[in-house]
Amino acid sequence: MLGPVLLAASRSDVIRRIVSAAPVTRPVVDRFIAGEVLDESMAAVRKLDQQGLEVTLDHLGEDITDRSEALRTRDAYLALAKALGAEGLGGRAEMSVKLSAFGQALPGGHDIALANVTPVVEAAAEAGTTVTLDMEDHTTVDSTLAILAELRKRFPQTGAVLQSYLFRTEDDCRALAGEGSRVRLVKGAYKEPASVAYQDKREVDLAYVRCLKILMAGKGYPMIGSHDPRMVAIAQELGRRHGRTLDAYEFQMLYGIREAEQQRLVAEGHRMRVYIPYGTDWYGYFMRRLAERPANLTFFLRSLATR
Ligand code: FDA
Repeated sequence: MLGPVLLAASRSDVIRRIVSAAPVTRPVVDRFIAGEVLDESMAAVRKLDQQGLEVTLDHLGEDITDRSEALRTRDAYLALAKALGAEGLGGRAEMSVKLSAFGQALPGGHDIALANVTPVVEAAAEAGTTVTLDMEDHTTVDSTLAILAELRKRFPQTGAVLQSYLFRTEDDCRALAGEGSRVRLVKGAYKEPASVAYQDKREVDLAYVRCLKILMAGKGYPMIGSHDPRMVAIAQELGRRHGRTLDAYEFQMLYGIREAEQQRLVAEGHRMRVYIPYGTDWYGYFMRRLAERPANLTFFLRSLATR
């Protein structure tokens, strides 16, 4: 029952200020965040790269409220693309973006986000890498998929995230299961109303499997974004059934979560990509991680108790 409360808190400015200021929060945050600055994130990239893991980098930030912040987001990603290109990491490291950090929620936000993200996608291509559009709450899905379609005209390798908890997602999977498409399938991390999303975890899991079947049977490149051992096993089985080689799909997990499992999949010959968040605006991301797993919250509360 705590999950929905934490998800509501993830969008509260008052709670953001309290949690962000608490000195005890930092060590727990560090478990999920690679650092606050680009250099720290690049150090994490190199370390994971040495372990055979690929990465996708997220410069933390979301729900920005003015155009100058959107430009700062754009510039942070341009610097990231440059750093990846300079180190020749483009083949192993891609970038994940949240369009709300590029201005999507501002008045006229669809066009603002498209204008701000386009140079980032261009810079990614120059650095030999690509961009995946994260998916945020359900009100943004149409705009995000329209921006994806626009970007893919010039950069067909641009990817997107689909969330199995939304009723619409099986249709979106069918639409995006074609040649050249890159879809990261996740269960979904936002608090969504019953009018648009499954509320029961079992229903979300079943929908995930239905979506996975569509993507794995298709001609695109499925990216399985889940820590759930059942989903990993089902994806492997579907890969075999559809004659996919191990490089024709990949697994993705979040930084700091199930690291032994990440290594196990690499050892089995799978492509395994770690989602690395970095930056100072970690609050929303951190609260969603607490909300989705009681053990994460316990870890946080235990650190409060042992101070
Ligand atoms: P879930 O939380 O349902 O847990 C199922 C099982 O997995 C558990 O019972 C346990 O066995 C295992 N497990 C999970 N967490 C574990 C842990 N910490 N330690 C050990 N075992 C654990 N969401 C979104 O809305 N938009 C987005 O763009 C993205 N992007 C994204 C990228 C990547 C790479 C990932 C992995 C996830 C996202 N998400 C996301 C988040 C996603 O929607 C979802 O909230 C989380 O991945 C949690 O769901 P899972 O499928 O991982 O397992």
